[in-house]
Amino acid sequence: MPKDQTEFEGRTIAISGAASGIGLGIAERLLAEGADVFSLDVHEGPVGRHVYADVRDPESVARAVATIQARNGRIDGFVANAGVRGPDVGVEDMAVEDFDRVLSVNLRGVFVSCQAFGRAMLDQGDGRIVVIASMSGNRIINVPMRIAHYHAAKGGVTALVRALAVEWAPRGVRVNALSPGYIRTPLAEADTEHHAL
Ligand SMILES: NC(=O)c1ccc[n+]([C@@H]2O[C@H](COP(=O)([O-])OP(=O)(O)OC[C@H]3O[C@@H](n4cnc5c(N)ncnc54)[C@H](O)[C@@H]3O)[C@@H](O)[C@H]2O)c1
Repeated sequence: MPKDQTEFEGRTIAISGAASGIGLGIAERLLAEGADVFSLDVHEGPVGRHVYADVRDPESVARAVATIQARNGRIDGFVANAGVRGPDVGVEDMAVEDFDRVLSVNLRGVFVSCQAFGRAMLDQGDGRIVVIASMSGNRIINVPMRIAHYHAAKGGVTALVRALAVEWAPRGVRVNALSPGYIRTPLAEADTEHHAL
């Protein structure tokens, strides 16, 4: 690699939820490092090539993967970042529908999108996936937020990433999770369940 070239130069990298917050920050940094960045989101964002995808929907994500492959021939990386927070409410009052809605984006969405990108990468024989989990999936966080649906989803994501990593590493696809603490984004400041979808 030439001295002034980064490891991301010329790489094709897709990021779900790249229209806002952490995903947008990752997209900006990867673009600055020379990657060709595809922003998979239900909303258009300011950077990258926007490809509409709802991570809950396997057909929508498969179409997005096919669009990227048709344009660039291969996919080097995928960041599974899309997520919602859901309403702040005690478990005793939590609507089952709210629990399902948060799980559908934050856990099912990670499964659906990693499966679609993983299939493409397994066919190539290599690829890198980074999943944005959360500290709240691993421990009780001492903040006054009552978002048990979110905690449950992130715990599931952490376990899912372990399973993916073990299954796919021998076939050239590396899967890792990052578990951030609090980062000031629209999600951290409000129930994004409604304005995100
Ligand atoms: N902000 C924090 O403090 C924090 C901490 C730990 C982990 N995280 C995680 O980081 C990730 C990004 O969060 P953020 O804070 O940047 O939130 P954000 O609300 O700023 O951005 C989330 C993005 O996901 C997109 N999105 C939502 N549902 C989608 C769907 N069904 N299909 C496709 N795109 C969808 C939204 O349109 C939005 O662009 C989430 O997985 C979140 O759980 C955030």
